[in-house]
Amino acid sequence: MSIPQEFIQELKSRTDIADIISGYVSLKKTGRNYMGLCPFHGEKTPSFSVSPEQGFFHCFGCGEGGDVITFIKKIENLDYVEAIRFLAQKAGLSVPEDGQSKGLGDLKKRIYEANREAARFFYKKLYSPEGREALGYLKKRQLTDKTITHFGLGYSPGSRFELVNHLKKLGFTNQELFQANLANETKNGNPIDRFSDRVMFPIIDLRGNVIGFGGRIMSDIKPKYLNTSDTPVFNKSRNLFALRFAKQKANGQLILVEGYMDVIALHQAGFENAVATLGTALTQEQAAIIKRYCDEVVICYDSDEAGQKATQRAISILRPTGLNIRIVKVPDGKDPDEFIKAHGEQGPARFRLLLEKSGNDVEYRFGRLRSKYNTDIPDERIAYLTEAAKLIATLENSIERDYYISKLSREQDISKDAISGQVGKYLRSNKKQTDIRQQKEAMLELSAARNNINKEKRGKLRAATAEEALLAIIMTEPDTAASLFKELSPDLFATSFNKRLYQILKSRSDSGYDFTITDISGELSDEEMKGAAEILAEAHKVGDPLEAAREYIGILRDEAQKLTPDQISMASDEELMRELARIKKKKQQ
Ligand code: GTP
Ligand code: MN
Repeated sequence: MSIPQEFIQELKSRTDIADIISGYVSLKKTGRNYMGLCPFHGEKTPSFSVSPEQGFFHCFGCGEGGDVITFIKKIENLDYVEAIRFLAQKAGLSVPEDGQSKGLGDLKKRIYEANREAARFFYKKLYSPEGREALGYLKKRQLTDKTITHFGLGYSPGSRFELVNHLKKLGFTNQELFQANLANETKNGNPIDRFSDRVMFPIIDLRGNVIGFGGRIMSDIKPKYLNTSDTPVFNKSRNLFALRFAKQKANGQLILVEGYMDVIALHQAGFENAVATLGTALTQEQAAIIKRYCDEVVICYDSDEAGQKATQRAISILRPTGLNIRIVKVPDGKDPDEFIKAHGEQGPARFRLLLEKSGNDVEYRFGRLRSKYNTDIPDERIAYLTEAAKLIATLENSIERDYYISKLSREQDISKDAISGQVGKYLRSNKKQTDIRQQKEAMLELSAARNNINKEKRGKLRAATAEEALLAIIMTEPDTAASLFKELSPDLFATSFNKRLYQILKSRSDSGYDFTITDISGELSDEEMKGAAEILAEAHKVGDPLEAAREYIGILRDEAQKLTPDQISMASDEELMRELARIKKKKQQ
């Protein structure tokens, strides 16, 4: 590790985890801790807790957890060293470096640089004779020079070696070009341009780094778009196109569209709060990001069947976040870009009207449902009403349910009571199903989380629980810990994850360093940090820590002496007699 321990200690003393996290999550004080909505999974009721005293966060919902460094790594998509730099900057410190093992941080920097150079190159090419057709294409799609420059659009020439040559001249290695996914590797191991004869859309993150590209072909050849594959700096499920601009203009609302061209056309028309996914379906991570920047999201996908299916999927991902959801259905089978163009000067005003007239997600779902039935035919009308009652039963808010029951009753001339009765039935059966499902999920999640971090816990529950209680005391009561380190041998630990954690804590103490969760964060993987935070979050406050710790050590000694079923079948007679005598003696105590 290239960062000196003393520096981390200094950084830690100047950093307040609750302060840092409240820059991303709105936190409310409850007792000694803070609670808020987890930024790592969509939720409506807070299960994300932060302990400023002990320096950790833990989500009781999804199991995410760690110290302030883990948090910054995860939320800003940084590696360890970058996260330290990020926090140092906030704390007004500068990071001492030994200039050696900068590792991934360095590679990422090189990829950002290569991408930036590539974006410059593409942009220049667009305005060179080679880019004439591409520029014409963008002009034909009615983009102004101002818009092209704003988004940094460009052109990748068709030769397949121009960008590679250009970047190599600037000192980039083949490996860096492959890692950035700017070049493909030929059979002979040589790099050739990945993007050839395409209009280029740079994808830029919130800090202004070029993280990847989308490239559109100008003819009907497939694939229409070629995107950068995931690289060390580019993750399609964690970024949104144009969010950097849109978050500034959001004012509580973001418009979610499908295509890069839709975003660009909307921004040009004055709707600068539009964003798009990066060629994949909306993910939960993206939903959590959207939630960070607005209270209302307007989905405006293509009006074809694929777009409508994607809309339904997006609704189900966005609903759990508690965001207000509105749906714009663009008329005449068009996408937002085509709609605005089709109406010429009136385009923006008409799109504004569509936005204002847009219904919420429930109305949208009603509309989809309604269009499937011919309600003049009694059977179909009944089927429609039944499905509509099912839909109402999925709404959590009882006022919302009542509103739609009244509406349906008026529309279909059926008594409110009849509809309410049916809705009530579905509600009860939904609730039962959800309860069962939630229980199952909770159990699965718990065991999955445990399995990942401490696989042996299930078979050694009693010992593992005592170990965890001890580890929590060590990480929070340094005075008690000092005497525990002297009397507690690592060999007494029955599960290897807990043992490893103990050894790390002990060796830090032996070398004279602090050993809170933040101090060990450089030595643990993210998954292990999650485990450590969970141990802290699940710990109960104990009266006298030393006394409690001795009790737990007693349990560990006791458990260590027990023979496992395997050992029982392998043991000699003499060993068995000893074990029986031990149990007998214990019972008499
Ligand atoms: P135009 O046809 O230029 O108007 O494109 P668009 O921006 O309207 O995109 P469209 O609605 O056709 O597709 C939506 C998004 O899906 C695009 O912005 C791309 O991110 C992605 N996409 C579309 N076609 C392809 C493809 O062939 N391959 C990949 N990987 N992604 C695609
Ligand atoms: Mn389009």
